[in-house]
Amino acid sequence: MARFVITVALLLSLTIFVPKTRAEDNELKDYCSMHRFENLSSGLRFTKEVVSSEYANVGSFKAIHCCLRGYRSIEWYKDNRPYPWPGGESSFILYPESANQTIYTQEVRASDAGRYSCRARNDTTALEGDISLSVLGEDSSGYKGRPLPTYKPSSQLVPLGGTARLFCEAYIGRAYISDARNSVMWRRSDSNVTLPNHGRLSQYRVSREDDQIVGSYLVIEEISLEDYGEYMCQVSNGVDDDDIKLPAHLYRQEPHFNVGLQNGSWRKSLLLAVLVLVLLCSVAAFYGRCWLPLTLLCRDKFYSLEENDGKICDALICYHEKDVNFVVGTIIPTLETRYRYKCNSVELSNLSQHWNLEINPHAMAARRLVVVISPESLNTGWTESSVSHVLKLLSNIPIRTIVVALKEPPSSSSLMKRSTQGNRDDGASNRATAADYPDVEVLRWHEANEREFWYRLRLSLPAMRPANSDPGCQSVAMIVQANSKTPHQQKVRSRESLEVLV
Ligand SMILES: *[C@@H]1O[C@H](CO)[C@@H](O)[C@H](O)[C@H]1NC(C)=O
Ligand SMILES: *[C@@H]1O[C@H](CO)[C@@H](O)[C@H](O)[C@H]1NC(C)=O
Ligand SMILES: *[C@@H]1O[C@H](CO)[C@@H](O)[C@H](O)[C@H]1NC(C)=O
Ligand SMILES: *[C@@H]1O[C@H](CO)[C@@H](O)[C@H](O)[C@H]1NC(C)=O
Repeated sequence: MARFVITVALLLSLTIFVPKTRAEDNELKDYCSMHRFENLSSGLRFTKEVVSSEYANVGSFKAIHCCLRGYRSIEWYKDNRPYPWPGGESSFILYPESANQTIYTQEVRASDAGRYSCRARNDTTALEGDISLSVLGEDSSGYKGRPLPTYKPSSQLVPLGGTARLFCEAYIGRAYISDARNSVMWRRSDSNVTLPNHGRLSQYRVSREDDQIVGSYLVIEEISLEDYGEYMCQVSNGVDDDDIKLPAHLYRQEPHFNVGLQNGSWRKSLLLAVLVLVLLCSVAAFYGRCWLPLTLLCRDKFYSLEENDGKICDALICYHEKDVNFVVGTIIPTLETRYRYKCNSVELSNLSQHWNLEINPHAMAARRLVVVISPESLNTGWTESSVSHVLKLLSNIPIRTIVVALKEPPSSSSLMKRSTQGNRDDGASNRATAADYPDVEVLRWHEANEREFWYRLRLSLPAMRPANSDPGCQSVAMIVQANSKTPHQQKVRSRESLEVLV
């Protein structure tokens, strides 16, 4: 008896609660497990596109989905009011078998229209999907208008060789579906040929809710250059000129160079790079201005001194009588008193002839030879050939030779390589090397550029330890200075020696 009552009650309950059809049940269960994104990174994620606009006819079955993974809870809201909703607000109920990813109603009512949101959380983040539901109810036999897009494909950045996935979907209702197979198709925007469905391209047609909603996935694998461009999803309800076109663009994503750097550290490294750049620039600017003094300082500090080599002076200054004022008034006093070089001098008797013969006997006693030339001291004039001749003579003397030119040497690419460094201040080069005579260096004396001249001349002379404030050293320097002969005495002496030679 009891068994009979229970059976009747069961039968009654079955007739009172309109059961979901098997197809609907399967659809609710399967929706979130089909066509999921591939290779999703871990964490809280949507597992497929969230359909943003849903449409339903009054009285029909309707389901709304939010497919997720990595969540701890999903809460549903209608117009910001949390589930469960009173009957007057919405007839939708949770479908627990899908782990709350789906809500549905057997019979849509006009009051069900509104904005539904799913809010999913894991322990740290929340994710929200919004779906707006419109209820169509004008025609009880079903919607017959143009297809209504439920999901518009979105343009994407895809790297070369990557995979693109485009999805489009539309509500077409129960209208005249003459050829359901053609109601959704993908093509390139610039072509009217439906894309193939093989090789790197795959298309997956989907439909739900009794084919009232149709859609299609277009998946392109191993994207190549010609795959970039605009695509068009065309949805037709079978009525001519009543189809809709939903475009989407595939753009090339340039490869990232700083993969693995997070936003913050990316900014930090950018800042660091800018700082380093600024620093390098200022170092370069500093070096450009100060490299001569710096080089000289380092040279003097660290180069080995040329001592105990049997030489009696650092520089042998050779000049013609016509340039005696410069030599006696400028070069020798500056080198001896300011820079503490030990200098000897030789006055040359001829006008640029046989200078090597005059200089040679004295040269071996000196570490460097400094020869002063000017237009007055060359009897053949200040021409390319005469200067070249002098350089040639001097190049025969076997010690390092510096030629101090009191006038800009006749410019000629064959004779001189003008150094780019010397051209900074007044356009006059302070230094050039004789291209044909690499052992002879030519320095241009220039009053306006005196500092640079001295730096360069000292660089060509032997290293000299910087003057020390140590009183002991100072007294040594003073003794050295006291011992060195005055230029005039030297001049007399060298004249004597020349006379002896002649
Ligand atoms: C997902 O990863 C597998 C193997 O890691 C790879 O073969 C496949 O192409 C990837 N799919 C996509 C869409 O990136
Ligand atoms: C929650 O999801 C976010 C986003 O995917 C992820 O970064 C985070 O690690 C997840 N937290 C936990 C506790 O799983
Ligand atoms: C589903 O929703 C119900 C009611 O809001 C809740 O009690 C349950 O914990 C939820 N389950 C999941 C897996 O979120
Ligand atoms: C495709 O478009 C071309 C013109 O762009 C037209 O001539 C051709 O008939 C069209 N083919 C189809 C099948 O619509």
